[in-house]
Amino acid sequence: MTSQTTEQQGQPESRLFNPPASFVANATVSGMEAYNKLCAEAEQDFEGFWARLARENVDWKVPFTKTLNEDNAPFYKWFEDGKLNVSYNCLDRNLANGNADKTAIIFEADDGAVTKVTYKELHEKVCKFANGLKSRGIKKGDRVIIYMSMSVEGVAAMQACARIGATHSVVFGGFSAKSLQERIIDAGAVAVITGDEQQRGGKFLPLKAIVDDALALGGCDSIKDVIVYKRTGNPIAFKEGRDIWLHDLVDHQSAECEPEWVEAEHPLFILYTSGSTGTPKGVQHSTGGYLLWANLTMKWTFDIKPSDVFWCTADIGWVTGHTYIAYGPTSVGATQIVFEGIPTFPHAGRFWETIAKHKVSIFYTAPTAIRSLIKASDADPKVHPKSFDVSSLRLLGSVGEPINPEAWMWYYKNVGAEKCPIVDTFWQTETGGHMITPLPGVTPMTPGSCTLPLPGIMTAIVDEAGHDVPNGQGGILVVKRPWPSMIRTIWNNPDRFKTSYFPEEFGGKYYLAGDGAIRHKDTAYFTITGRIDDVLNVSGHRMGTMEIESALVANPLVAEAAVVGKPDETTGESICAFVVLKQARPTGDDAKKLALELRNWVAKEIGPIAKPKEIRFGDNLPKTRSGKIMRRLLRVLAKGEAITQDVSTLENPAILEQLKEAS
Ligand code: PRX
Repeated sequence: MTSQTTEQQGQPESRLFNPPASFVANATVSGMEAYNKLCAEAEQDFEGFWARLARENVDWKVPFTKTLNEDNAPFYKWFEDGKLNVSYNCLDRNLANGNADKTAIIFEADDGAVTKVTYKELHEKVCKFANGLKSRGIKKGDRVIIYMSMSVEGVAAMQACARIGATHSVVFGGFSAKSLQERIIDAGAVAVITGDEQQRGGKFLPLKAIVDDALALGGCDSIKDVIVYKRTGNPIAFKEGRDIWLHDLVDHQSAECEPEWVEAEHPLFILYTSGSTGTPKGVQHSTGGYLLWANLTMKWTFDIKPSDVFWCTADIGWVTGHTYIAYGPTSVGATQIVFEGIPTFPHAGRFWETIAKHKVSIFYTAPTAIRSLIKASDADPKVHPKSFDVSSLRLLGSVGEPINPEAWMWYYKNVGAEKCPIVDTFWQTETGGHMITPLPGVTPMTPGSCTLPLPGIMTAIVDEAGHDVPNGQGGILVVKRPWPSMIRTIWNNPDRFKTSYFPEEFGGKYYLAGDGAIRHKDTAYFTITGRIDDVLNVSGHRMGTMEIESALVANPLVAEAAVVGKPDETTGESICAFVVLKQARPTGDDAKKLALELRNWVAKEIGPIAKPKEIRFGDNLPKTRSGKIMRRLLRVLAKGEAITQDVSTLENPAILEQLKEAS
């Protein structure tokens, strides 16, 4: 298997796989004509289209009268005079429409234990949680950090914040104390909700201890409460007056909690993500527009039906876990799996075993997971999907990174038995929900292509001057019109929002995704060709090269560092760091020892996901005469390829030889 697509080899992938007729017949959006009709409606009456959908799919306490306000573009406002509550839309409305006793969450614990929670029970849990937060003085507009592992309580924590109008910011449980501290400070959070420990792959890993470390780093005086969910029960430190067990906070609370009715533009959450420069950006999402898209894409992209069992394998620490675990599935009254574990524990057939166990019908995962499970099942047929009864599946999804056609075909054949459409969903933290994706009852699929934009999403490919490029020619992916679930601003940094996403080069009008793309000559299908900035995508996780470089140079031994991405068969990309030490360049075992030390250092500074896979030491880095590091050369060196580019502007060409190989 190779991660290089046929596209990259010069052969545009053009195989087409039609969705089965039986699927098309029963789909929410059925057939290309239906799709074209929705697109035409959006073209002809943009605001009318979105207003209709927002009225049909969201319950409003106060109906909106104004659909889109562009007065202060790119700070767009959607449905601004409407009022609603997300938790009401996800919970209460399910009690009203006959779903009270339906299972909302099937919690599959790391060790295989199963807990089921109905909508009525989830509603009660969230109301008690919300009342508990209120009892600590947490209120509308306050920011609350959620640093938890996958759990019913994690989802309930998000919903409880939404219920009282507090803005949550979930920090992935794999981030370090320092990353957590930075986010707490930037968000100005008043509370942290965490767990005692998390359980993953049979191991107990700390959560509360990391929160303690983060707060001890200083600058977090805004935090008044640390609320701790007891997961493993192992001893943890407790600070009197600040720390409280979740059960002590909520058990005695009332099971009724009137939702806080908030304006449509009220920030539902902030989620930090990496950019090409500086510290992570707090992507701010709205209430009304975000909910609309979470709800609607469940219906359009996932064709969700009352009888489905939906499973998105993402973590609530990422946007996928926000939209397609915490909010999307609940807002449509679906039954979903919340999975605590990892795909390879206790064996690499865990995904397929869990699908069989719970009769999962819609499965949504990342290409990295698929690629690693291909490898595992090649090595051991016992963990191959064919060794499990996965016949309950009717739809598959992919998210987070490009899926190479080989992995797509394997997924299609071995997991989907050639009867399940695959929705290759392209989107981002900033877009709130799907942007470009096949619709399972509409779009003939091409492996590796996310195909066509959703109705109302005006994506295009332009050149550096902002002009449309013809199909077949690569360029920069932009969105020409706003959409309801788009990022509203970067928390604390509106200027960075403008310059990052609505650059002047494009008249400040186009949303710049940060990805390159190409449209197929015949089908006009989009294929994402990868980031065009200094953002890496490792196992579907976004990371800024600058963040990793900053972490490296924070080490007292390091003088200079440059980080680039290197194609990786399993993780899509891997991190390769070129490092200059303050001391002489190490070689042999010394180099190995120091590389290990620095990798662990980065894990401690940012989190294990940011660990460079490879570290190469040099006496210097390749630089232009003006001192600029020539990263494009480093990318070539990382790949192990020969340098064919012009190196005449390079001040120190001899350094290339030294950096050719891993130390
Ligand atoms: O480069 C694109 C890639 O992931 C980036 C967004 O990362 P993040 O904000 O962490 O959100 C991931 C989950 C939505 C994009 O800029 N990406 C995401 N989905 C795809 C993709 N690349 C190719 N195909 C996809 N389906």
